[in-house]
Formats: sequence, C-alpha cells, structure tokens
Amino acid sequence: MSQLETLVNALPKAELHLHLEGSLEPEMMFELARRNGVELKYGSVDEIRAAYDFSNLQDFLDLYYQGMAVLQTEQDFYDLTSAYLAKAAADNVRHVEVFFDPQAHMERGIVFETVLNGIRRALQDGHIRHGITFSLIMCFLRHLSEEEAFALLEVATPYLDQIDGVGLDSSELGHPPSKFKRVFEEAGILGLKRVAHAGEEGPPEYIWEALQEIGVDRIDHGNAAARDQRLVDHLVETGMTLTMCPLSNQRLCVTPDLITNPLAKLLRAGVRVTVNSDDPSYFGGYVNDNYLAIADALDLTPAEIIMLARNSFIGSFLPDADKERYLDEIDTVVSELAAPGI
Ligand code: ADE
Ligand code: ZN
Repeated sequence: MSQLETLVNALPKAELHLHLEGSLEPEMMFELARRNGVELKYGSVDEIRAAYDFSNLQDFLDLYYQGMAVLQTEQDFYDLTSAYLAKAAADNVRHVEVFFDPQAHMERGIVFETVLNGIRRALQDGHIRHGITFSLIMCFLRHLSEEEAFALLEVATPYLDQIDGVGLDSSELGHPPSKFKRVFEEAGILGLKRVAHAGEEGPPEYIWEALQEIGVDRIDHGNAAARDQRLVDHLVETGMTLTMCPLSNQRLCVTPDLITNPLAKLLRAGVRVTVNSDDPSYFGGYVNDNYLAIADALDLTPAEIIMLARNSFIGSFLPDADKERYLDEIDTVVSELAAPGI
C-alpha cells in the first residue's frame, strides 16, 4: 500500500454529501428488480455500468431517477442504506450526513413513511454494527415547484424528530436557490438545518443566493466559487463549509478532468473544503477513492489531506464535544503514523 493510501485509510472521516439513492449499485438494482418484478431496460450489470457515460448533470439525473424505480418497499430502502454504511465503514468513515429524495419516490406511489422508516432503521442498525453516527437530510427536487416543496415539508412535519435538515438538489441550471427562499425559511422556523447544491453547474450567483437568501449552513459542491474572488473571501471569512465531490465533477464534466478541479485552489485560499462521494455507484468511487484520486491529481500534501479529514468533522452537524473527540482521534492517528511532511 502506498503512503498516501495508508494515510487516507487511517484517517477517521465524516461524509457530508452522499445521496443514498446514488449508492444503488448495479448488482443491487438487478436484485431489487427481480425481487419486485420491475423490468429493467438492461440485460446485465455490465450493460448498466456501460450506460454510465455522462456529458452533464441532466444526463446522469435521467438514469438516476430511472434506476431508483426498483426501490419499492421499506426493506429495499433498508438494504440500500445498509449497503452504503458497510462501504463507509470500510473507508473508516465515522459519521455520515446523508441525503434522500422523497419526491422522487412519492411520485411513483411510494409513501413517505416507507422511505423514511427503511432508511432510519438502517441508520440506527448501522450505528450499532459499525459505530457510525448520522444525520438525515431531506432534499427538495429543484426542478419541481415551490408548491410541491411546501407539500413535502407538510408531509414530513410529523416526522421532524427523525430528520435533521433539508437540502436542495436535482437540475441546477434555471432553478436558482431563490426559487425556494420561502420553503427554506419555513424549514428554518421548524428547526431544520439547511444546505443546498450550488455552483455545481450553476454560476457563483447561485452560491451567493444560497448564502444570502436561503441562509444555508453549508454549500454542496460550490465549485463555481473559484471564479469569484469576493465570494472566496466571503467563504473564508464566514468559515463556510463546501462539500466537494471530485469524481462526480469529473464524471459529470463539471471539470474536464481532476487536474482542473478547483478543490486545491479553494483549500489553499483557506476555504473549509471537504471531500465526498455524491453518488458513488454512478461515479466510480466511495469516499476514500475520492481522497486518493484528488490527492494524486492535485499533489495534495499529507497536511492538506489531514486538513480535509478535519474539515469533514468541523463542517458537520455534530455537537462540539463529538467534533473534538474525532479531531483528537485524527491527531492520535497522525502522530502514530508520523506522516512525512507534517
Ligand atoms: N442528485 C443526486 N446527485 C446530484 C448531484 N450531483 N447534483 C444535483 N442533484 C443530484
Ligand atoms: Zn449531490
């Protein structure tokens, strides 16, 4: 194992940007299609993988929404979430803050409780089995209307003790954060954390909107910030966290390759950058794969890799005492490894 792999494997990490539906591996898609009598348009796992060749976000989303049609029962959502947690545990991930997309299931006739109960039960069992702590973030699909987002918030209101935050995902261009200003305001009043995908394909103005009109606690992706120095300065001054996803950016052609990813530029400017996998089944890698690929492409130093792991806990919704405990653990791991360059 290389020194880089040893370091990345050894570091405790949090994953803050993960769509559970995007962790649906082709093998499980096949198995659930068989179990639920759903017809797939692919004849094999290899055919599914071969279809994962995207030119942009929408290309991916079209397959993502198709793929999740196999998720029908509470057990399916339990199995999906459990499989992700096993992968996360293998990558030494200690805390996860995961997204789910209820509207994409409800429009197929799946009731909200089926989705929520399967996911929650798996998260609780994952805590027992792997020691992984968690937050759950319910996303509004931004290609749908404000009215539909309000309707979801109403359905979810009796379950707010089981949901930690709300997010905003799906097709970004043409659907600025300001479209959901009022629903996020209401979510804030209900005591929910707020995050939003911004600046993945969209311009820096969408990041400004997420910050100033929605009052987000974190920005998901945020790549476009690198094109606006005033925004970079603002992110640094306010200690805002970006949940970046390098392999996703590469596969969705947000950046032409990993070498042009703005992650190092933002990190070196002092922005609180984190590394995450987004939709690992579709983009070819879980969280450690993302650390390794971006560290290699951008020549990140060991100190920078350690900073990314530290940021993942600092930028999480964990209580301060838990953050401190994980940061102490990172210090212990680093001193035991005596990693070069520190
Ligand atoms: N839904 C799942 N993955 C997404 C991404 N990378 N961007 C926007 N919406 C998503
Ligand atoms: Zn995402």
